[in-house]
Amino acid sequence: MDPSRIRNFCIIAHVDHGKSTLADRLLERTGTLSSREMVDQVLDQMDLERERGITIKLTAVTMEYTPAGEAPYLLNLIDTPGHVDFSYEVSRSLAACEGALLVVDASQGVEAQTMANFLMALEHDLEIIPVINKIDLPNADPDRVAREIQEVLGLEAGQAIRISAKTGLHVDQVLDAIVKRIPAPRGDVDRPLRALIFDSHFDSYRGVVAYVRVMDGSVSVGDRIRLMSTGAEHDVENLFVFRPQLVPVSELAAGQVGALTAGIKNIRDARVGDTITRVDRPATEALPGYRPPLPMVFSGLYPVDSEEFPKLREALEKLQLNDASLQFEPETSAALGPGFRCGFLGLLHMEIVQERLEREFHLNLVTTAPSVAYRVRLRSGEVVTVDNPADMPDPGRIEAIEEPYVRATILTPADYVGPVMDLCRDRRGQFLNLEYPVPSRSVLTYDLPLAEILMDFYDRLKSLTRGYASLDYRYVGHREGDLVKLDILLNGRPVDALSCILHRERAYQRGRQLVEKLRELIPRQLFDVPIQAAIGSRVIARETLRALRKDVLAKCYGGDVTRKRKLLEKQKEGKKRMKQLGMVDVPQEAFMAVLRIE
Ligand code: GTP
Repeated sequence: MDPSRIRNFCIIAHVDHGKSTLADRLLERTGTLSSREMVDQVLDQMDLERERGITIKLTAVTMEYTPAGEAPYLLNLIDTPGHVDFSYEVSRSLAACEGALLVVDASQGVEAQTMANFLMALEHDLEIIPVINKIDLPNADPDRVAREIQEVLGLEAGQAIRISAKTGLHVDQVLDAIVKRIPAPRGDVDRPLRALIFDSHFDSYRGVVAYVRVMDGSVSVGDRIRLMSTGAEHDVENLFVFRPQLVPVSELAAGQVGALTAGIKNIRDARVGDTITRVDRPATEALPGYRPPLPMVFSGLYPVDSEEFPKLREALEKLQLNDASLQFEPETSAALGPGFRCGFLGLLHMEIVQERLEREFHLNLVTTAPSVAYRVRLRSGEVVTVDNPADMPDPGRIEAIEEPYVRATILTPADYVGPVMDLCRDRRGQFLNLEYPVPSRSVLTYDLPLAEILMDFYDRLKSLTRGYASLDYRYVGHREGDLVKLDILLNGRPVDALSCILHRERAYQRGRQLVEKLRELIPRQLFDVPIQAAIGSRVIARETLRALRKDVLAKCYGGDVTRKRKLLEKQKEGKKRMKQLGMVDVPQEAFMAVLRIE
C-alpha cells in the first residue's frame, strides 16, 4: 500500500460532543457499513459502554474514500477513550495518528476535556481539524464556538468545519479535509520494523490480538518478533486490517494500521505503548512514550458471602485477561473476611470493573471506599507504599507521609469562579492560575491531593456550577501532607474496612460527621451499639445506635399479610449488601460514607 494514500486519524472531543455519532456518519458515507449493518454505535462494542455512552476500549476501523476524480484513499480511524482515567491510552492512540478531528458541541463550546485532548494532540504534533458539531440544535451558536476555538485553543476559526453529525450535514467536508489537511504517514519502509501497540485484547482462540500502527519497516506472517519492553519473542501467526471486521493480510508496512496475533498468551506481554520489532533485523530504539500502567485508586472487594471468594478470584482473573491495567491481590480483612485489594486507573475504571463483576459474574460484593497510594517514610529510613488505610504503620514509626497530587484544569463560566475557588481551597488545593480566554469563561488551574478528588469533588463541582464546569487532571507526583489515620470502632472493636486517612486539621470534624452518618446508615440492632471515631488511642467522637425496642414484625402482628411479607422482603433486600461485623449488620453504604460527608 502506497503510504501517500493512507491517512491515520482520530476523533477527540469532550464527553457527549458527538464523537461516536460522527464516527458512525463517516463509516456510513464511505460505505464501510451499510445502514442496515449499522449497529447503533459500532465503535462502542461492549454493552456496558453503550449503556454508559462512554468508550472505554480502543478500536480502529479502515475506510475507503474516493474524492471526486481521484484514486481511493484508505482512512484509518483510531478510536480514543473519552475519560481522564484512560489518558495514557489516549496518548498512545494519538501517537499512532498524523491528524485529529477536534469535535466541539456548537451549543456547549470548549470544555476541559476538549482542552486536555487538544494539548495532547499538539504534543504529538498532530494536524488538528476543528469540527463544530450539532449545528442543527436550536440553541447552537457556531459563531461563538468558533471564536472560542480561536481564543482558547489558538486554532484558526475559519478552518473549523460546521456540521451536524446527526443529520449528516457537511460530513463530506470532513472527509475532504481528512484527505487534504492531514499529512500522509511519514514512516520509512526500509528501516527496521517498529510497530506501536495502541490497544490489545484477549481472544480465547488466537491469544492476544495486538492493535498496531507500523511506524517503520514491515512485518509479515511467519516473522519472528520481539516486544521491546520485555524482550519476549513470538512468531507472527496472523495479520489483519479492519474493514471493520478483521480481514487477514500477509503483510503490514510503514504507515499502516492493523492487528497482529503471535500466540501471545497474556495481555500483560503485549502492553499498550510497547514497540514490536523483528528479531532478524531489530530496531535499536523503542518508540518513545511507553509506560507501565500506574494504578491510582485502590479499593477492597469482598464477597458478601465468603464462600464466593473463589468465584470472585476467577472473575477478576477473567477480567484481567482483557484489562492489563487491573491489578489485584488477595487480602483478608478482620471485619470483612477474605477478599481482594484492587488497583484501578481511576474512579471510572473502578466503577466499571465493579459493575462488570456484579452484572456479568453475578457476584454480590461489598466494596470499601477508594483510597490512594501513600508513600510513607519510616523513622527507620525505610519507605513503604500504603494503599489500604488499615495497613498504615503505627504513628510512632512514621517520619512523614506523602500523598499523590494531580494538576487539575477546571473550565467554568466566569460567574462561578468564586464558589469553585472556595471548593478548591476547602479541598487543600494550591492555586496556580486563573485565566479568562474569553470574557464569559474562566480556566482555573490547581494542584489538588488526589484523595480530595475521590471525595465527591466532581459532584460538588457540578452542583456548585449547575453542571457547567468541567474537570480534567493528571498526576504530578507525591507531596508531603499532615495526614492521620482515623479508625472507626463498632461495639468497641476497630473495623479495619472503615479506616480512612485524612488531613489532621479535618480529622476531628470529619470524624464527628462520620459517626453521625454511620448512626443513620447502620440499621438498629437488638442491643445498643456504640460508634466511635479514634485517632490512635484517642476517641474523638462517639454516637450510640439505640437498640430496637420491638421486633420489626411486632407492629403488624396479626395484621396485613402482604405488608408483613413486604417488610420481610425489604429486610432480605437490605441483607444482600450487608456484612456482619461482629454482631452488627453493616450495609454497603456505610463503607462509602467517608466519601460523602460535608
Ligand atoms: P462519549 O462516547 O461519551 O465520549 O460521547 P460522544 O462524544 O461519542 O458523543 P455521542 O456521539 O455519543 O453523542 C452524544 C449525544 O449527542 C447523543 O445523544 C447524540 O445523539 C447527540 N448528537 C451527536 N451529534 C449530534 C448532532 O449533530 N446534532 C444533535 N442534535 N445531536 C447530536
